Amino acid sequence: MQRIQGRRCLELDMPALIQRARASSYTLLDLGAGDGRFVAQMARACPDGLAIGIDACHENFIEQSRRAPENAIFLVANALTLPEELTGIASRLTINFPWGSLLMGLLDDPAFCARLTTLARPGATLEIAVNGGALVEVGWELDTGAARVQSNLRAAGFALLAPLAWGAAELRACPTTWARRLAFGRDPRAVFLTGNWKGERGMM
Ligand SMILES: C[S@@+](CC[C@H](N)C(=O)[O-])C[C@H]1O[C@@H](n2cnc3c(N)ncnc32)[C@H](O)[C@@H]1O
Repeated sequence: MQRIQGRRCLELDMPALIQRARASSYTLLDLGAGDGRFVAQMARACPDGLAIGIDACHENFIEQSRRAPENAIFLVANALTLPEELTGIASRLTINFPWGSLLMGLLDDPAFCARLTTLARPGATLEIAVNGGALVEVGWELDTGAARVQSNLRAAGFALLAPLAWGAAELRACPTTWARRLAFGRDPRAVFLTGNWKGERGMM
């Protein structure tokens, strides 16, 4: 795995990262982190914690990783095939507005949904926002697509609250770059799923 700092791609010291993540009471893992704005903001909000963003595209991270505080870590990886070492590190797991293979993993890949539980610590919170346009592009309506993601996550072992319908106001209040883009775009609709993992895995 590579760590991005500005234009530099550094080899990740995985044991050091895992040790730090386990020692921290707050470890955010943001999958499909995009430009990393959310990760940088959460790292600033929680200076004693650790915020780790993972995205498949390293160029996305160049700007934010240059300016972010030291407790923000930006990694390039396929979120569908994360290394075993990351097991059990996240106290907060977020996926904001997934598209492509990440969205398909949530919709169609029970093994990926089960893998999400293994990234979480017992009691960890899960937050996933899926937007209408991304679901329509892969053949789902917003409500049925979000219900499918919810059902897969529940089957994996997450205890989820009732889904929340988001419009432009909620998207404007969500501190990610994509949320802002959606808020002012043609289809400002999303569904926000949240809950936690109590430490029991589902039967997938
Ligand atoms: C619509 S963007 C959202 C970015 C960010 N979460 C935000 O809200 O601004 C979706 C992101 O998911 C990433 N992505 C898609 N599939 C992925 C995968 N399998 N592994 C890691 N990142 C992935 C893309 O590179 C893209 O940056």
